[in-house]
Amino acid sequence: MIFLLFLSLYTFWVVWAALCLANNYARARRMGVPIVLLPISTMNILWIVIQHPAISLLERFFGPSNLTRYGSRDWHFRDRAQAHIKFGDVWALVTPGEIWLNVVDPDAIVDIFQRRTQFLRPVELYQMLNVFGMNVSTVNSIEWKRHRKIISAPFNELANNIAWAESLKQAREMLRGWVQEGSNGNIGLHRDTRTATLNVLAATGFNRSYNFHETRTSEQHGESYRVALFTLMDNSLFMQLVPKAILSSLFAPASWKQIGRAAEVFKEYMLNLLHQEKQLLSEGKAGASHLTSSLLRASEEYSHEKQTGNGKAKGLTINELLGNIYLINLAGHDTTSNTLAYSIAHLTLCPDVQDWISEEVHAIFGDSPSETWEYEATFKQLKRPLAVMYETLRMFPPIMAFPKSTKGQQQSLEVNGSAMMVPPNVYVVPSLLAVQSHTTHWGEDALVWKPSRWIDENNELVLPRKGTYLPWSDGAQNCPGKKFSQVTFVAAIASLFQFHRVQALCADGESKEHLEARLRKIINETAHGVLLRMKDADSLRLSWRRV
Ligand code: HEM
Repeated sequence: MIFLLFLSLYTFWVVWAALCLANNYARARRMGVPIVLLPISTMNILWIVIQHPAISLLERFFGPSNLTRYGSRDWHFRDRAQAHIKFGDVWALVTPGEIWLNVVDPDAIVDIFQRRTQFLRPVELYQMLNVFGMNVSTVNSIEWKRHRKIISAPFNELANNIAWAESLKQAREMLRGWVQEGSNGNIGLHRDTRTATLNVLAATGFNRSYNFHETRTSEQHGESYRVALFTLMDNSLFMQLVPKAILSSLFAPASWKQIGRAAEVFKEYMLNLLHQEKQLLSEGKAGASHLTSSLLRASEEYSHEKQTGNGKAKGLTINELLGNIYLINLAGHDTTSNTLAYSIAHLTLCPDVQDWISEEVHAIFGDSPSETWEYEATFKQLKRPLAVMYETLRMFPPIMAFPKSTKGQQQSLEVNGSAMMVPPNVYVVPSLLAVQSHTTHWGEDALVWKPSRWIDENNELVLPRKGTYLPWSDGAQNCPGKKFSQVTFVAAIASLFQFHRVQALCADGESKEHLEARLRKIINETAHGVLLRMKDADSLRLSWRRV
């Protein structure tokens, strides 16, 4: 009986999926672009859960297919520009649930970003960020303006200045630990860059300057907001599937309860901070000079402005404030820490680039210790560390594609000079990773990590053609933390390589060639989370020495 029930449900599902696929295929054909069909929606929850073992099995028994090539969350990374080189500047991935129109023509990409109200951010894809409340990434396009105006306020030169000093301090302490590891080399690259960037965010976000080594040790246990944040970040996909109430329920398994508890700890910490700041504001005091207090002040000012303007008061509610603080924490540190980890891994393969960075650092600071480095006078001069960041983000951007949606209306789009009509409810995807690794724009060595490509013969940073480089996104909805991340990254890299060099350590009996191949494999094996990152960066054994 049960078997028959399952069989009928399964048959119904297969017929339904086939009908939906046929319908989407007919809609996609009207665009006149190359089409790749997938029998299952890439947003199907069951598929999201089982896709990695399923793809390995399918590949093993039946060889590569469209499903194994384009069916996983990280297909953009594995494919880079190959699909576009094969199908052209625009092609459609058609599934029973969605049509994904992938675009790599730079002019079309710029156009899509500029038409924010026609190619809308599909907030339904960002729901996992709604752990504490709606935020700038999850509200609709009308509400977005209010959120964006308020959350942009704290991203100013004061914050960058604090980020600079704190990044130098964290890098110094991190390096001290790495040098002490000596010939052992088990430094925990991802864990440490993550600790350092979260400490930078804490200093800028709530005026808390943590000691790198104390926080690194305490992160392995305890109930700090930091441990809570890591737990939430590592489980954000899972939290999309299981509501918070169930995670904290009496009958939930211990590992689920831990995630539920992390949400409570983070919320309590942030609420406390907000209440303290609110109190200061209500007493007419200036409040602290950190990101969270500026956010609160900006929200109150916005609401006051609107009250005196047209009578409609609306800053951010407490839940929205919490939602945005969580988003800033989430968006703000793993992005930079992954970029640092990828860069250091590449630098171990390129000792000449380490010398190249050090040469510039010495030309600017000589042997002065980084405690004396000033932000305003020197950040702009440090072009080589920034070139390293640009190059890493060209090949390893934390967010690999930015889907936009036509929602209920068809939209015209010009690709390579030809106009096409995109039907309603199609995801239009500027293919970030594809355009950033396309030989047409980056030359035959597009897949080679080469920071020097970013500095021209006049020692100026190269400005790529518009629409060919956008790791921080583009248009009004771009990343508000762009400069903040650059300041953090440049300070860390300049300080690490002023006097030191890094090299990867061979395992027992391992040849240099094998070590290099192993390193490249680690760099190219990704974890399947929300952001692109190395799966196994912590397994790298790196030795740091003073030169
Ligand atoms: C290497 C570093 C970083 C990269 C590559 C990066 C990239 C991005 C991208 C691509 C988006 C747009 C996402 C989309 O439209 O779907 C974004 C949004 C955002 N980023 Fe960053 N980011 C970085 C660092 C930071 C930092 C350090 C902060 C804050 C401290 C930050 C805060 C945000 C916020 C709040 C948004 C949402 C903006 C909105 O929706 O209007 N990011 N980031």
